[in-house]
Amino acid sequence: MNLQNLVRENIKRLTPYSSARKEFAGRAEIYLDANENSFGSPLAASYNRYPDPLQSEIKAKIAAREGLKRSEIFIGNGSDEAIDLLFRIFCEPRTTDNVLICPPTYGMYEVSAAINDVRVKRANLTEDFRLDFEAIKRETDADTKLLFVCSPNNPTGNAFAPDEVLSLAKDFGGILVADEAYIDFSSHESLTNEIRNQPNLVVLQTFSKAWGLAGLRVGLAFANEEIIALFNKVKPPYNVSQIAQEAVSEALGNRETVEQNVAAIISERERLTKALENFSFVKKIYPTDANFVLVKTADADGIYNFLLDEKIVVRNRNNVELCEGCLRITIGTPEENEILLTALQKMDGRISAADQRGFRGSGI
Ligand SMILES: Cc1ncc(COP(=O)(O)O)c(C=O)c1O
Repeated sequence: MNLQNLVRENIKRLTPYSSARKEFAGRAEIYLDANENSFGSPLAASYNRYPDPLQSEIKAKIAAREGLKRSEIFIGNGSDEAIDLLFRIFCEPRTTDNVLICPPTYGMYEVSAAINDVRVKRANLTEDFRLDFEAIKRETDADTKLLFVCSPNNPTGNAFAPDEVLSLAKDFGGILVADEAYIDFSSHESLTNEIRNQPNLVVLQTFSKAWGLAGLRVGLAFANEEIIALFNKVKPPYNVSQIAQEAVSEALGNRETVEQNVAAIISERERLTKALENFSFVKKIYPTDANFVLVKTADADGIYNFLLDEKIVVRNRNNVELCEGCLRITIGTPEENEILLTALQKMDGRISAADQRGFRGSGI
């Protein structure tokens, strides 16, 4: 694969913005190069300087752990930024360029495509949420630039075998984007260590899920150096704030907490799944490798609204193709899950009372 053939012409020609902090990366006594405010700010902490544009400190820590080079890692304002950059680098708007998604899946692929005015093709998952290889093959053409495979998949929760995803990458002439936002909750291996063998593979991860840092907005893309150089060329100069860089750096020194939280979430996931099986309105609980569970119910809208009245909000996926009747429930703390189960019991009681009276009331 010749990567340059996939890149948009304007991006190839682009002279990237050269920030003050990029042009001078050493140590000086006086910084008068970036129009910052030398007097400081109303805050006690010092944020008056622009942050490191390439986030060297956190990249060094991540690179050491993953056995990669810093130049094989992109850090963005959430992995959503990486998704948007992929469109901007590879997909020419309003042309035959297109991307392929495997619905039901994460909604931002399609939204980013729409924002960038790029056509979306679909190869729906099968009824039991497996990849449909035939459909993927059928829908792919010479102008399919990106193929998104989300594993574990949002909203279905299941993961695809890494070998399956790799085999798709091998057969594909564009960039295969493996979105591993939920990988830490899965028993499957990440594909990060395949980026050197598979030049068209981009692996997305995030600090928003297992790391519990959604508020910081920090996401990652792993890929070969040529692709990462393109990300760096196109991204805004200071795309990850100083606060976010410092906090992530600190968090990276405390993996034990992350591991403990992940273990606790997985154990709550099992407990919640078992408990949900007992409700009359639960039709199916899909196997999950993520920090949420997709549940097929007799009346998704009714349950959703009932829970809202109880001040509990879950994600209603009733209107999503192949997810009719489904609610996506994020695994909460044991206390939160208990409150959810109590509310669902209350609703189940109402349904059986209505059944005994010989009718099923609306708006359960
Ligand atoms: C599959 C998937 N990818 C990416 C993201 C975005 O993550 P981030 O918070 O890093 O932008 C999400 C968020 O829910 C997600 O579900």
